[in-house]
Amino acid sequence: MRLQNVNWILTATMPKSRSVSRNKKMSTLTVSAPARLNLARRMSRLGTETAFEVLVRARALEKQGKHIVHLEIGEPDFDTPKNIVEAAVDALHMGYTHYGPSAGLPDLREAIAEDVSKSRGVKFTSDEVVVVPGGKPIIFFTMLALVEEGDEVIYPNPGFPIYESMINFLGAKAVPIPLREERDFRLDVNELADLITDRTKLIIINSPQNPTGGVLTRNDIYDIATVIGDRDIMVLSDEIYCRLLFEGEPFSISAVDGFKDRTIILDGFSKTYAMTGWRMGYGVMRSDLATHIARLMTNSNSCTASFTQIAGIEAIRGEQTATEHMRLEFQRRRDVMVNGLNQIKGFSCRLPKGAFYTFPNITQTGWPSKKLADAILDEAGVAALSGTAFGAFGEGYLRFSVANSIENINTALDRIDQWTKKNL
Ligand SMILES: Cc1ncc(COP(=O)(O)O)c(C=O)c1O
Repeated sequence: MRLQNVNWILTATMPKSRSVSRNKKMSTLTVSAPARLNLARRMSRLGTETAFEVLVRARALEKQGKHIVHLEIGEPDFDTPKNIVEAAVDALHMGYTHYGPSAGLPDLREAIAEDVSKSRGVKFTSDEVVVVPGGKPIIFFTMLALVEEGDEVIYPNPGFPIYESMINFLGAKAVPIPLREERDFRLDVNELADLITDRTKLIIINSPQNPTGGVLTRNDIYDIATVIGDRDIMVLSDEIYCRLLFEGEPFSISAVDGFKDRTIILDGFSKTYAMTGWRMGYGVMRSDLATHIARLMTNSNSCTASFTQIAGIEAIRGEQTATEHMRLEFQRRRDVMVNGLNQIKGFSCRLPKGAFYTFPNITQTGWPSKKLADAILDEAGVAALSGTAFGAFGEGYLRFSVANSIENINTALDRIDQWTKKNL
């Protein structure tokens, strides 16, 4: 009998009468062994984002009384601009505390469509927009909607670790395209051409890029589009850092002739408006795909929180000076960080063109990335990420976020310098 199989035992005699209620029967049972957790096999293929693990380790060291400079996590250290916070508070008072449509509130979808049309130079309508809790769900939902087991997905490596995690989770084949320092971490289009096969379903590009700060040029993007040609391959264009660009103009592959229908733009509020904890992002895509992504929302989250969406309208339509201030401040910190890293023995660092990360080459230290990141955290009190947290091609690098004050960045640089002088 099944009960025996799972090791249930009866501690009292079972009631004889069938008329005894089911609840009473249950109350006489105790369990002698913990239930075995039989996870679905796919869970073993799910990756993670090391930044959160390093943050936990750093916090544990702080609890022991150590002082840590946090350069591991990818979130702006600025407060969400006041006008946005006030719009959310007002929305709560106005009763935006209920479910809304799965694809997002119509007014926010309209505001996003207008904003993205202007910034990308392509006309989008609100039925091509789906609002989701953060940028991340667009990665997951796009792949759930498009990628079958055995399909191939090409993604940048080093790159945001969730791409590879999701591809593997879905049983698809993860095909990394290496990003190399000598190309300023822009993918090589000839290499991309060699990786495309009949099974390629999706290509992920990310510019400005996490973790390298690399930015694809307009020519790169035209070359990528040319290589894809008229094949039935979709492009997930992760543009979440598009407002954090230090040189030139952003350019989206959706603006290339024939690519509006092939592109899913991922963008959101987390980085541009310092709203990481609000959980609000969006995808912009052809409306027939948007319908399916909205259905995934119905099945998972129902909708993004309504009052945060009202604040999202204010973020897009309101004053933009705070965003520009953050961009300039990140640029200033990047310059301090890169300059400082280049003075440290064994480190060399290119100037990132966007986002808020630096990605120094540490091969001359002779240390593997993970070991060096661990030692710098434990012994120098600086939390950074190993390049390998972003894939195998991240070996030989560390990632330092510059989402911290210049004062703290200088402290971190000093500490790493002292540490290398002692240990290398
Ligand atoms: C490249 C990239 N895409 C997407 C995301 C996800 O953003 P969100 O926090 O809005 O989910 C991040 C966050 O770090 C990122 O770096």
